[in-house]
Amino acid sequence: MVCIRPATIDDLMQMQRCNLLCLPENYQLKYYLYHILSWPQLLQVAEDYDGKIVGYVLAKMEEEAAEAHGHITSVAVARTHRKLGLATKLMSATHKAMEEVFGAKYVSLHVRVTNKVAVHLYTQTLCYQIYDIEGKYYADGEDAYEMRKYFGPVPPALAKKAAALTAAATGKPVPSEGAAAKAEAKA
Ligand SMILES: CC(C)(COP(=O)(O)OP(=O)(O)OC[C@H]1O[C@@H](n2cnc3c(N)ncnc32)[C@H](O)[C@@H]1OP(=O)(O)O)[C@@H](O)C(=O)NCCC(=O)NCCS
Repeated sequence: MVCIRPATIDDLMQMQRCNLLCLPENYQLKYYLYHILSWPQLLQVAEDYDGKIVGYVLAKMEEEAAEAHGHITSVAVARTHRKLGLATKLMSATHKAMEEVFGAKYVSLHVRVTNKVAVHLYTQTLCYQIYDIEGKYYADGEDAYEMRKYFGPVPPALAKKAAALTAAATGKPVPSEGAAAKAEAKA
């Protein structure tokens, strides 16, 4: 049995360990501390029955931006626990806190253009859309998709380009906002 809950300071080392095992983008412990001290509601963990942290979301608010919004710094689930819906649940818990606690209008993230599983999770399961492609975003030179998920309607000025970029990248029609709400409710 895996439980999704807000992270505490005691979880940070296990979150960092999970990150090191899952992703090439790693952070010093002080960066995790900065997140949890600033936005404690936005860090979520998946804890297995034996107390082991098997997934996490590290997220923050971009308060200086023109429009206050949330940002997913990192998300990962241990190999042993993938395809069980944990990332969907972790992300949904963080989205809820961004909107309800901090009044975020949308959430953003970056993802490697070759990370097919994560792109599926974001675009098909959680209904993010691609707003831009950032060339050589990663240290090894790989490009990133800049994605966003609006908690309300997508601003009309951005909607057309985002739908076109997302459909071109995924080869699939953009899921409706109703589908997103259904996925989040299920999580
Ligand atoms: C990306 C990641 C977080 C997904 O975690 P997860 O807990 O397995 O995801 P979920 O179980 O919530 O699955 C979400 C969707 O992705 C699909 N999916 C997950 N893993 C998949 C795989 N290996 N192959 C195909 N589809 C997969 C699920 O079927 C589900 O799709 P659906 O909603 O259409 O049914 C996980 O694979 C991971 O930690 N990867 C390494 C770290 C990483 O890439 N993080 C993202 C960096 S931006």
